Amino acid sequence: MDKPKVLVTREIPGEAIQLLKEYCDVEMNPYDREMTRKELLERVAGKDGVLCLLTNTIDEEVLDAAGKQCKIFANYAVGYNNIDISGATKRGIAVSNTPGVLDNATADLAWALLFAVSRRIVEGDTFVREGRFTAWSPTLLLGRDISGKTLGIIGAGRIGSNFGRKAKAFDMKILYTATRPNQVFEEETGGKFVNKDTLLKESDFISVHVPLSPATKHYIGEREFDMMKRTAVLINTSRGPVIDENALVQALKEKKIWGAGLDVFENEPELAAGLTQLENVVIVPHVGSATIETRVKMGIMAVQNIIQALQGEIPPNCINPEVFQHE
Ligand code: DGY
Repeated sequence: MDKPKVLVTREIPGEAIQLLKEYCDVEMNPYDREMTRKELLERVAGKDGVLCLLTNTIDEEVLDAAGKQCKIFANYAVGYNNIDISGATKRGIAVSNTPGVLDNATADLAWALLFAVSRRIVEGDTFVREGRFTAWSPTLLLGRDISGKTLGIIGAGRIGSNFGRKAKAFDMKILYTATRPNQVFEEETGGKFVNKDTLLKESDFISVHVPLSPATKHYIGEREFDMMKRTAVLINTSRGPVIDENALVQALKEKKIWGAGLDVFENEPELAAGLTQLENVVIVPHVGSATIETRVKMGIMAVQNIIQALQGEIPPNCINPEVFQHE
């Protein structure tokens, strides 16, 4: 019997593809780059499953191009705002993601950014490399204390909770806001549930951990920057459009806040005008989950979802399990 056909839209690290090949006939993106829209539309055609990336826009056109036999799009990411879930559900196509395995890596990166901004690590590195370090100085590259300060966490899901638990090491007071209070989060972190405006006004550090949805688009914009402390540091490792990036550039220019650390951008990989000219922002290229261990686990997880869906079972990380109930 022929093996089911699966498209992998970009080479991924680790042994996941080897595992996939045991069960499926795998077509790999042959280019050492993202596929163009046209290439994606052509290559999904006739596939039973697709392993896709957060950079692939999976809309109705792509779902239709895949065809009626297609069973699953397995996203190599925990966020799945790149996929039209209701369009997939209507067509009986399952969608899966990779929750849990990247919590530590993403929370760690949020901490790395928080430290980098507060202690001006990137500026310091540049300063030394440029040969400008000629003597110790009492006023050189002064940053801000972290220990004992107030940490505001927006979103108390898996990554927000992981990030919050790590704050214990720094003796921080935690405030959090979410759609509803989360008792487990409070027990694990000692965090206090507050409304958005209280969090913005009282936090020294604010870290964003919400998925992108119509409700969270531009969750932080000009109004919110006006409420923050002038010493506040804002970190975003979730999705770029949660922050109005032009308003952020303005806030950083006008020193409405101390600084920002960004892993994600509103129109990735484009950056808002003026962002790269600012010294009070640290920017990295969407590498929240980019550790070898994590990316290997994400690959295995995505592949396991594909294999199960192609065997007619509900994949373990299915976003729209109702697809299977209608069968
Ligand atoms: C995800 O998985 O959604 C992350 O953004 C990847 O870094």
